[in-house]
Amino acid sequence: MIPTIQWSGKKVLMIDQRKIPAKLEWFSCRGYKDVIRGIKKMVIRGAPAIGVAAAMGLALGAASIRVKSYARFRKSFKRMAGEMSKARPTAVNLRWAVERMCLIVDSMADQPVDIIKNVLRQESENILEEDIDINRRIGQHGQKLIKSNVTILTHCNAGALATGGYGTALGVIRAAHEEGKNIAVIADETRPWLQGLRLTSFELMKDRIPVRVIADNAAGSLMRQARIDVVVTGADRIASNGDVANKIGTYQVAVLARENSIPFYVAAPLSTIDMTIKNGDMIPVEHRTPKEISHFNARLVGPKGVKALNPAFDITPAKYVTAIITEKGVIKPPYVSGMKKLFK
Ligand code: MRU
Repeated sequence: MIPTIQWSGKKVLMIDQRKIPAKLEWFSCRGYKDVIRGIKKMVIRGAPAIGVAAAMGLALGAASIRVKSYARFRKSFKRMAGEMSKARPTAVNLRWAVERMCLIVDSMADQPVDIIKNVLRQESENILEEDIDINRRIGQHGQKLIKSNVTILTHCNAGALATGGYGTALGVIRAAHEEGKNIAVIADETRPWLQGLRLTSFELMKDRIPVRVIADNAAGSLMRQARIDVVVTGADRIASNGDVANKIGTYQVAVLARENSIPFYVAAPLSTIDMTIKNGDMIPVEHRTPKEISHFNARLVGPKGVKALNPAFDITPAKYVTAIITEKGVIKPPYVSGMKKLFK
């Protein structure tokens, strides 16, 4: 499996996801601002992967702070953390990772700055390793919900590339395949960035898991023809009532799944659950440049001057979610109490 992100000496290397599948190219980050640019420009994307990137970026940033006093180090670090948190707004894993790194700094006031820098780098490596392990556990819990001889629809890319490795939704699919279940995948192409076409099909083909890509607007019709048995997606943020923010288009898939009596599962780590918010209406949805809609491969496709709307995520109300698959197990409605138990 290709690593999504890794340390290489004093640099952080991210596989440039904008170039896949045409090229496997590394995007090299020497400083925390390179990491912020990588997140903003979609070099690295997917909620857990963005969290890992933020942690590594802050370790890079910490290493560049040239002061000996703890107070001055902390002040500079917190400024960088503030900038990092704003790189993208929807995936809460970014803020989660930033907070985890800030806690380290806050808890080491009596330590020399050089020691704190080493601990921060180690913590970023821990976050990466933990994420891979978490995804394998999500996969184990989730595969139990997948029968043999089924076709699974997924949206966007919630695979190894969207995480530290293995994937959340694709982790469930991989684990079912590893169990020897006969499964096939239908991947929504996922306009406008085509994560389904470019990344999900690429990952699954490498693992020899049968996959076919469809235009996003084909999902409903295939469901009505009983050609899809189950839906599994990832999430960018889950509110404490079980409302799910995920890649734009997920909501319509969930509604169509309900209409056609198809289970709709969401696979995500605890770091994606935001217990500070009551419901999905409180999740900030990123709106990206209209050019991503009006242009294709940097070429204007619509009429000159055409206006476009480009929300990058949508909210699926909890009532459409059959179950949420986490590393601690599968939770079913009612989510408000189920979520609280997860965090006990
Ligand atoms: O804009 P992206 O590509 O970062 O959006 C990613 C998604 O919406 C994924 O489906 C989600 O982050 C789950 S990743 C395990």
